[in-house]
Amino acid sequence: MKIGVFDSGIGGLSVFNAIKNNFSNLNIVFRNDQEHMPYGDKTKDELLLLVKPFFDQFQAENFDIVIIACNTVSTTILTELKQNYKFMIIPVQPMVREASLITKTKSVAVCATPTTLKSSKYLALKLRYGQNINILEPDCREWATMIQKKQINQLKINSTIESVLNMGCDVIVLACTHYHWIENDIKKICFNRASVIQPEEKIIAKLRQLL
Ligand code: DGL
Repeated sequence: MKIGVFDSGIGGLSVFNAIKNNFSNLNIVFRNDQEHMPYGDKTKDELLLLVKPFFDQFQAENFDIVIIACNTVSTTILTELKQNYKFMIIPVQPMVREASLITKTKSVAVCATPTTLKSSKYLALKLRYGQNINILEPDCREWATMIQKKQINQLKINSTIESVLNMGCDVIVLACTHYHWIENDIKKICFNRASVIQPEEKIIAKLRQLL
């Protein structure tokens, strides 16, 4: 069984590492498109063009499963990718449903790229699970590049998180895999005030079920 993990940059690497920690003998490779990162400000057509060569290559090499460890790609072009490729595709998705189930204050924050926040998949998730809760979407547009370049502006992140906490939010959804790298910092800021959730465990459970 050949498994691939794909992202624009190092976000997917955190998902890849989490999978590796759980399945040490798996034949799994990580590929990313650092040259064209960030994906978070790209249009649907641009994403289709950028992702195509990577997915063509997965197909040419007979991969069985590809995990899209990129919310921007999976919320924007998943349907097109599923139509064009034979291998099984497992996407990460913004955890709006999970957040809606655990919030007590009925206020959650979704940290994501601009393209994810505009995507039809994300809008559908909000419509389905966000009717009775307040969903905050703080401006995180610079975060993925900051994390990719290892030039993290901690003050900016602190003030973004503090502002959603001050608005009463008690769940923070990390809906961009790059943000997994600062999950512990965000958890420290949120200590006792909000839960921080991201999809690695869900992906691992899905793989466990399949393997
Ligand atoms: N890590 C990606 C995501 O989950 C994309 C970040 C970017 O390239 O802007 O959305």
